[in-house]
Amino acid sequence: MLKHQFGGDWTEEKLSRVKKYLPAYTTIFKSNEKARHYTTTYVDAFAGTGYVHLDKKDADETCLIPELLEQDTQDFLKGSAAVALETEPAFDRFLFIEKDMSYAEELNRLKEIYPQRRNRITIVNGDANDYLKIWCQATDWTMNRAVVFLDPYGMQVEWSLLETIADTRAIDLWILFPLGAAMRFLQRKEPPQGILREILTRMLGTEQWIDAFYKDSGQMNLLGEDEEIIRAADFKKIASFFVERLETIFPGVVKNPLQLKNTKNVPLYLLCFATANPKRSVIGAALRISEYVLRS
Ligand SMILES: C[S@@+](CC[C@H](N)C(=O)[O-])C[C@H]1O[C@@H](n2cnc3c(N)ncnc32)[C@H](O)[C@@H]1O
Repeated sequence: MLKHQFGGDWTEEKLSRVKKYLPAYTTIFKSNEKARHYTTTYVDAFAGTGYVHLDKKDADETCLIPELLEQDTQDFLKGSAAVALETEPAFDRFLFIEKDMSYAEELNRLKEIYPQRRNRITIVNGDANDYLKIWCQATDWTMNRAVVFLDPYGMQVEWSLLETIADTRAIDLWILFPLGAAMRFLQRKEPPQGILREILTRMLGTEQWIDAFYKDSGQMNLLGEDEEIIRAADFKKIASFFVERLETIFPGVVKNPLQLKNTKNVPLYLLCFATANPKRSVIGAALRISEYVLRS
């Protein structure tokens, strides 16, 4: 089996939340008379291989693709795709998107491991942003509902994808925001320029982060000229900025998402939930369930 290694305790924590949420979601659609006619799809847009091999060290915060190790001494865990396939009541369909070709091939093995789900599984070897935008726009949302899980290593999710998801008015979204990577991008003096600035703006969908995360130091620089600009943002500020950004496009957003931290207690990711469905009763139920899942 090709091994997909990353993460540590925070990975288990993340997966345990997804594992709790999914059956609550499908139970609503199977038990509620009004919701039963919808086709439900679980979408994993950064799907990995279906399994996670843990080395119990912290994740690579530089968000590089981790090395693949051929050792049998590590623990392994069912990844989000396998967790979703085991959900009862079952989703009607599963869409797994993965950019790495060898990982996507590995995902195919899930059809043998879960033969009863075989005909419901679609695996796409491609870019999550590109494929998912097209899928969201092509799906008939009068007949469909979906949970989308966006679990990137780093800053791969584009804001324009989140806008497209919100436009469906039908998707419940779980997204891991890369807090640790964002903090590393935000150097102490002067906002980042060039590609780092572009990546942050592409992920946050605005340049307002520059004013939100930086301030005048109140001091002159060494030449006695302008005031220096320094970073004002801490993890809490970055987290609340992202939640506020989600609130500009989603009608329901969990206000206190879960920080996932490394063994040194440094935040790595923020596990966020948002629903695109504008119906009051749906927002209420979705937020109640997701807040319970995040706090329990
Ligand atoms: C953190 S892992 C996902 C883990 C998975 N959710 C699990 O629980 O097993 C992120 C995955 O996203 C893939 N990836 C990175 N960039 C991508 C992109 N633009 N589109 C689709 N997949 C991508 C990586 O190859 C990697 O397998």
